[in-house]
This record gives sequence, structure tokens and C-alpha cells, in this order.
Amino acid sequence: MNPSILQIENLTTEFQTVTHRTPAVEGLNLTLRENEILGVAGESGCGKSVTILSVLRLLPPNGRIHRKSKILYQGKDLTQLAEKEMNSLRGKDLSIVFQEPMGSFNPLFPVGKQIVEVIRTHEPEVPVKQALDRATELFRQVRIPHPELRIQDYPFQFSGGMLQRALIALALACSPRILFADEPTTALDASTQIGILDLLLERKEATGMSIFFVSHDLSLLEGISDRICVLYAGRMVEACTAKELHTHPLHPYTQDLLEAVPRKGTFKKEKRLYSIQGKVPDPQNRPTGCKYHPRCTKAFDRCRKEEPELFGKESHVVRCWLYVDAH
Ligand SMILES: Nc1ncnc2c1ncn2[C@@H]1O[C@H](COP(=O)(O)OP(=O)(O)OP(=O)(O)O)[C@@H](O)[C@H]1O
Ligand SMILES: [Mg+2]
Repeated sequence: MNPSILQIENLTTEFQTVTHRTPAVEGLNLTLRENEILGVAGESGCGKSVTILSVLRLLPPNGRIHRKSKILYQGKDLTQLAEKEMNSLRGKDLSIVFQEPMGSFNPLFPVGKQIVEVIRTHEPEVPVKQALDRATELFRQVRIPHPELRIQDYPFQFSGGMLQRALIALALACSPRILFADEPTTALDASTQIGILDLLLERKEATGMSIFFVSHDLSLLEGISDRICVLYAGRMVEACTAKELHTHPLHPYTQDLLEAVPRKGTFKKEKRLYSIQGKVPDPQNRPTGCKYHPRCTKAFDRCRKEEPELFGKESHVVRCWLYVDAH
């Protein structure tokens, strides 16, 4: 097993709203290993993006990381770093690709110029010409046609898929140790999505970086991840290898998510597509006991009253009372 590169310990992130202080992520423990892809799954509102924004310290002003939380990277607790130190890590060691590439570029400057700027911010000794050559080479690596011409183009001159590739080029510009990919392909058509995933996997193999890959699509995560962690209502409910999750999903939520993946045969007239009943609870109004119990078909009395811990061995943990006697 590869050594760990990022350790999230007891992460709780809260938001102050007009009336309440509500936790979006609670007591999260996660380890990302070197050169691995950790898939993070869960429905909308489960806390996937907030986890990334907490690690990178990019939370909006009303967001706050609890003081007992730790995020360890190379022996440093990121929650305690001065803003200047954090700035020098962001975009260099720790890079991010968001779902919506347009919002990540300044529309007023050519894309190439923006990549050059990132390179020179972190490596001021690199001359502009050399940085531009590097940006052009990155465009080539992410398979943007005619890179030496496209590097001069403005964001609006790119299609969605091409701009997403350019965003990956930007994120890879300073050879990050960890790439945080927040639904990077959700908005793209299937063939562009496969192209981008291929590209990320190839870059990971070439550079040895680790990828923290967020998606609500469990089938996609099964295909690319080494390990998968499933979040529900701000908590980790299950974590194990991608293979184990596919063959032995334990948590009823994971099982329901997998059941909801459209597979061959599910579109036949007589077979209706499965969808999970109900919705993720509002953070201000979470149920008592297991947060999934109102939607869970296997819930029993204890689930409604007490919240389970994570049970199991390190290689496969699950937050469910169904398994408490088994371990
Ligand atoms: N600025 C904010 N103020 C208050 N609550 C917020 C804020 N940002 C996020 N939240 C809440 O935090 C919770 C987790 O949000 P998050 O964006 O992490 O979800 P997600 O799992 O990434 O969902 P999606 O799949 O839709 O991107 C949600 O309930 C959301 O409403
Ligand atoms: Mg999100």
C-alpha cells in the first residue's frame, strides 16, 4: 500500500446562515495515498465540494473549519497554515479542476497567458517565453489540436470539452502532487468525458500524482478509482476499495446508489428505472439516529434513535447498525 499523502482527521465544516450554524461535513476521516485515485461519491448536498474547499481553504466567508479538525499534508496541518503558505501550495502542490471551466478562467485574457501567469507565480525564475512553451506543451499533452495557435485564444473561443482540457492543463501546470477533481466531466458528452478521464489517468501514471475525484456517479468512480468513500449528509457512510464496493457494498445507501445506476436492460419497458425515495436531509433539519434511516428500506428501531459509528476493519468501514454484530 502506498504511503499517505493527505490525511483528513475529524473534519467538521460549518456554515453560518442567517438563523443557524449548520454543519455541512461532520467528523470526516479520510486518507489519500500517493499515486492513487480516491473516489468520493454521494448525492447532491452530501458535502463533497465542501470537503475539497475545506482542504484547499477556499470556503466562502460564512464557512468555518472546526478547531479540532486536522488536514495533514507533508507533516503540516493545512488548517493552521498562514494564508501566504497556503497560497504557495494552491495551484502548485494542490490543484483543482472544477465542473464548470468557464468560471475558472478570466474571460478577458487568453487562456495561454493565464497558464503562464500560474507558472510564473509559483516559479518566478522561469522566463515568460519558457513558461509559454511549457503551456503549449501542456496543451499538446491534453490533446488540444494546434496548441501553438490555440494558446492565444480567449476562453469564449473554446468549446466546453476543449475548455475543460485547458483547465486540466492549467491544473497540471506546476506538476501538482494532488489533483482535486470536482465533477470534472459531469457537464460533458459521453465521448468527451471518456477522453478527459483517459487523460487524467495517463497524467497520473506519468507524474505519480494522487487524484481526489468527486462524482455523484458511482459507476464512473468504480471504473477509475482505487478506493471509494461514500458520503451521506456530511458523513462518511462507507469506504473500501473500488472492487470491494462493486462486489460487496454494505451500506443500504451505497446499495441504493448502485441500484440507481442505469445498466444494460434497465431501459426495457417492463423494468422501471430505480431511484432512491426521498432526498438528502437539509443540514438544518437532519433526522436523529442514522441520517439515512428515513429513506432506508432496512431501517429498524435502533437506526431511528442512535447514530452508528463506523464499523469494520480499516480496509472496509461502514456506518450502519446492520453490521454491528458481524464485527
Ligand atoms: N455558502 C454556504 N452557506 C450555507 N450552506 C452551504 C454553503 N455552501 C454549501 N452549503 C451546504 O453544505 C452542504 C454540502 O454542500 P456541497 O456543495 O459540499 O455538496 P455536494 O456534495 O458537493 O453537492 P453537489 O453534488 O450538488 O455538488 C449542502 O447542504 C449545502 O447547502
Ligand atoms: Mg459539489
